[in-house]
Amino acid sequence: MVEPNKIIPEIVNRRSVREYKSIPVEWEKIERILEAGRLAPTAKNRQEWKVLIVNDKIVIQKMVSACADQTFIGSAPILLVAISTDDSYTMRCGIKAGNVDTSLVLENIALQAVKEGLGTCYIGAFYQKPVKELLSIPKDKTVIQILTLGYPNDKTQPRIRKDLKEFYSLNSYEE
Ligand SMILES: Cc1cc2nc3c(=O)[nH]c(=O)nc-3n(C[C@H](O)[C@H](O)[C@H](O)COP(=O)(O)O)c2cc1C
Repeated sequence: MVEPNKIIPEIVNRRSVREYKSIPVEWEKIERILEAGRLAPTAKNRQEWKVLIVNDKIVIQKMVSACADQTFIGSAPILLVAISTDDSYTMRCGIKAGNVDTSLVLENIALQAVKEGLGTCYIGAFYQKPVKELLSIPKDKTVIQILTLGYPNDKTQPRIRKDLKEFYSLNSYEE
C-alpha cells in the first residue's frame, strides 16, 4: 500500500473544480502558474506552444456555447487556452508532439494552481472553430485543451481511480 502522504501533495489534492467564487485571481499567482507551465519539457525542446489567458467576463460567457454548453465555465474568472502553435511535427512513434507537449504544460499549470489554493478543470469538450473565432486564434494553430481557473466554490470529492495493480504491468503487457 502506497502512503498518500509520500506523494507530492498537489497531485493528491488536485480535483476537477466545476464551481468558482466570483473573486479575481491575483496576477502574481497567475504568473507563477504560467511559469510552472513554461518549465514543462517538450519534444526536441521546440516549445511550440502558447497559453492564451481569457479574463474578459463577456468573452468567457460566449465561450460556454463553444464548449458544448458547459455552463459552469461561465463561473470561472479565468480560462487558460492552451495552443499548439505548430502541430506539424510527428514523432517517430507516430504521435503528434504538439498534443503531448501542450498537455504537459497544462498538468504543470494544474498542479501549481493547487499550490496557490486555486482550482482547475480540463475542458476537452469544445469546438475548434468557434473558440478560434472568439479569441482571434489563427486557423493554422490548434487548441489542445482549455483549463478553467479560479478559487473553488465546491468541495469536490476525489474521483475513483483504478487500483495500482491494474495501472501497471511488468515487462510484458497484461490486461
Ligand atoms: C483531456 C481531458 C478533457 C476533459 N474534458 C472535460 C470537459 O470538457 N468538461 C468537464 O467537466 N471535465 C472534463 N475533464 C475532467 C475529467 O472529467 C476529470 O479529470 C475526471 O473525471 C477525473 O476527475 P478529477 O479531475 O477530479 O480527478 C477532462 C479531463 C481531461 C484530462
